[in-house]
Amino acid sequence: VSSYPSHISLLPSIQQCNLTNLPENYFLKYYMYHALTWPQLSFVAVVRNNRPQAYPKVVGYVLAKMEEDPADGIQHGHITSLSVMRTHRRLGIAEKLMRCSQRAMAEAWNADYVSLHVRMSNQAALHLYKTTLGFTVEKIESKYYADGEDAYAMKMDLRNMQ
Ligand code: ACO
Repeated sequence: VSSYPSHISLLPSIQQCNLTNLPENYFLKYYMYHALTWPQLSFVAVVRNNRPQAYPKVVGYVLAKMEEDPADGIQHGHITSLSVMRTHRRLGIAEKLMRCSQRAMAEAWNADYVSLHVRMSNQAALHLYKTTLGFTVEKIESKYYADGEDAYAMKMDLRNMQ
């Protein structure tokens, strides 16, 4: 798992990983905007390839940012997207990606908390956020997703990490 300022060339592979794993997708320029604006906050998990000059294979990523105009006026981070390829799930990769990003939000950007949205039906992600990491549900956002599913808006305090 590594922070990706030195891995800007991996952004298309990160985008491909997102396309494979989630219906919420973004233009490449949005990945670049994250990497250039908040280079400390996004991380990628790769499997190294021994062939010279071969690109490492991306098996997971967390794309994260600072909220630019927080409604509550409180400096906080936001998880834009997280996913791990099926072949590499349940190995602790998502937990590690999240913890790296959360630490950087607190240390590099003085974030008081981190927020995210997750589908109410997403059992795997809910276990990770609630049970493993300690996020709490702030509210339900009705029809948040394009297909009409509701989202939990979740947050986790980071003030003890600053
Ligand atoms: N069902 C129940 N619990 C699960 C599942 C599952 N299918 N998968 C993982 N967990 C648990 C693990 O057992 C572990 O719990 P523990 O701490 O009690 O041992 C915890 O979740 C963390 O497991 P990791 O191995 O770190 O998680 P993983 O690397 O497998 O990634 C993820 C989890 C990201 C949710 C993965 O399943 C995935 O990519 N899913 C598809 C994309 C997705 O849903 N992304 C999140 C969308 S929300 C957002 O992007 C803000």
